[in-house]
This record gives sequence, C-alpha cells and structure tokens, in this order.
Amino acid sequence: MKQLKLSNVPTGNLKKTDFVLENVEMPQIGDGEVLVKNILLSIDAANRSWMQGKTYRDAVRAGDIMPTYAIAEVVESNDERFQKGQIVTGDSVWAEYAAINSKLLTSCPNIKPLSNLLSLYGIAGLTAYHGLMNVGKLKKGETVVVSAAGGSVGLFVGQIAKAMGCRVVGIAGSDEKCSRVVKELNFDSCINYKSGTLLKDLKTECPDGIDIYFDNVGGSILEVVLFRMNMRGRVVCCGAVSQYDGTAPTGPRNLPGLLIVKRLKMEGFIVMDFVKDHLSAIKHMSELQAEGKIKIIEDITEGIENAPDALLKLLSGGNYGKSMVRVCPDPS
Ligand SMILES: NC(=O)c1ccc[n+]([C@@H]2O[C@H](COP(=O)([O-])OP(=O)(O)OC[C@H]3O[C@@H](n4cnc5c(N)ncnc54)[C@H](OP(=O)(O)O)[C@@H]3O)[C@@H](O)[C@H]2O)c1
Repeated sequence: MKQLKLSNVPTGNLKKTDFVLENVEMPQIGDGEVLVKNILLSIDAANRSWMQGKTYRDAVRAGDIMPTYAIAEVVESNDERFQKGQIVTGDSVWAEYAAINSKLLTSCPNIKPLSNLLSLYGIAGLTAYHGLMNVGKLKKGETVVVSAAGGSVGLFVGQIAKAMGCRVVGIAGSDEKCSRVVKELNFDSCINYKSGTLLKDLKTECPDGIDIYFDNVGGSILEVVLFRMNMRGRVVCCGAVSQYDGTAPTGPRNLPGLLIVKRLKMEGFIVMDFVKDHLSAIKHMSELQAEGKIKIIEDITEGIENAPDALLKLLSGGNYGKSMVRVCPDPS
C-alpha cells in the first residue's frame, strides 16, 4: 500500500519534497487496534502548524507518517465496538490503510456523501458553528467579519452568521474568491486583503463597526481589524494561518491597548471543547442546509499521492471550500 511520510521538518515554506511517497506492506493490528481503509483525508491549515512543535497534539517529526483526520472503513477489528464495513472517523495517517488505536475512532452518523462528514458536518462546520455561537455569542443584527472567508471554516462562518440575521463581511486573498462568497454564498461583501487598503475597505463595508471578528489568520490582518471593532466587541480566535508556513511571527502591535480602550473580549477555542454540543449543532446546521441557507462547498483532490499538493494549495490560498483528499470511492 502507499503511504506518505514527512521526510524533513520545514523551516521555511513547506515544499512537496518535504514528503516522501513509499510503497510498504499492509499494517498488522495489535490489541485494541482497528485496521481501516482510508476513504477521505482532511487537509487542514493545522497540518502545517503541527510541524512547528507540540500544539493540542504531539508535533510531527521527520520520518513520521503524516497524521490527519480521516473518514475510513473498518477492514479488521480487535475491538468489539467496531465491525468490518463500519464507517468511522478519527485520527489516521496519509496512507491507504492504517492500524489505529480504537480509542481514537468514533462511528459516523449516517450522512451521505461521506465528504459532508469532513465539511459541514465535520470539524469545519462545527468549528464555525461553535466559534460563532458559543464563543462569539452571536446576536441578530450584528456585523460579523471573517478572514480566510473562502476557506473550509470561513465560508460556513459567513453563511451561518448570515442565516442568523447578521451583516457578514468576508476577508479573502483574491478578487475571484471575494466575488464567489458574495454571489454564491450570500455574504454582504468581501474584501481582498491583498489590495493594501484593508482598513479603508473595512470602514466602507462595516459602516456600523464590527461586533464579532472570527479570526482564522492572526498577524497583520488581525491588527487592522482590531481598529474597527466596536465597544465590547468579541474576537473569536480560531486560528492563525498567516503564521504557520515559514514566516516570522508578526503583529498585532495594538494589543493590549485596543482591548482595554474598547473593552474587547478575545477568546481562543478548540472545536473539541464543545463536543457535548456537536449533535445539537449538527441538527441546527442541517435545518439551515435544508432551508437553502447553507451551501456545502468542497475542494476534493483525487489520489493519496496528491496529498502534499493539496496541502500546499491550501497554504497558498488555492482552495475554495473544505479541502480533502479522496483515497478511494465511498462504499456503495
Ligand atoms: N480552533 C479550532 O478548533 C480550529 C479547527 C479547525 C480549523 N481551525 C483554524 O481555522 C483556520 C482555517 O483553517 P482551514 O483548515 O479551514 O483552512 P482554509 O481556511 O480552508 O485555508 C486556509 C486559507 O487561509 C488563507 N491564508 C493562507 N495564508 C494566509 C496569510 N498569510 N494571510 C491570510 N490568509 C492566508 C488562504 O486563503 P486566502 O485566499 O484568503 O489567502 C487559505 O485558503 C486555520 O487557522 C485553522 O488553524 C481551528
């Protein structure tokens, strides 16, 4: 079977040559392990941050098979909770098959196609939902700004906030992405941060200031957005993708000054903090989807050997929607 290892921990920008594709024997399972056939691998900005050191999980080291979150089918099991043919989700690796500690797996709800379990009904949608509702404490009529607006999390943030009656302004890295989130996903507006006029554009597009900033990128964009926050605004710290891939850490330089003057609240979270609310979030999001208020956008790369390209594409802003790699077709 095929597998991909991180051959070298990057110090600058990640490169395709930092990975090596290997043909190896099928893994054997031990006590408490399950052999799974990977179907879809989630490609996330966080994959790059894991190479920088220990985060909410162990760092990825040179020689490790690249870890990932995946949807998979059980092939063989040493845990009676998992049966052959069952569809599971959890921590896996960039490989066609993997022997996984069964504690890291959960059974999937019956949602088709399976890719939706990585997008709206997986980490991307749940991160958007919990970040807005539980951290941002979203209220109808507020102005919400979201960065990486055309990405996995960002496009659900905008659609959920819009469905809840807010003014939604995205920030993204190309005119094409900006135009798509407005035309296809009903955002009120979207600003291309590469234009160099972000502060001025925020003034124009958020005439009543910003109540919630859903921050996926950190760095200099966060610094600029803080200037336009309203009194007692909330900054939902979801991620800092501008800091992950080789650049020296930057900004914001206006902290804590603006936090104090504007009585802002900045709060970080990890989606798993709200695991007890996942089912109610999924129910609400499925209602919004059924009403046509949320569209699912997925960016699927075919073939496990192309996983490094998919991650590089995401880090350079080439993805639109939830990025993932298809290893094999959904079982019928
Ligand atoms: N807290 C949690 O539990 C949790 C869970 C999932 C994800 N996250 C975080 O959510 C964020 C989004 O992750 P994702 O996996 O969904 O990725 P994504 O948004 O699908 O893709 C990343 C996007 O970030 C933008 N980007 C890349 N470099 C940038 C830079 N230097 N400055 C500004 N924008 C840049 C690019 O879009 P442009 O074209 O707009 O530049 C790229 O498409 C990440 O920060 C991730 O760590 C957090």
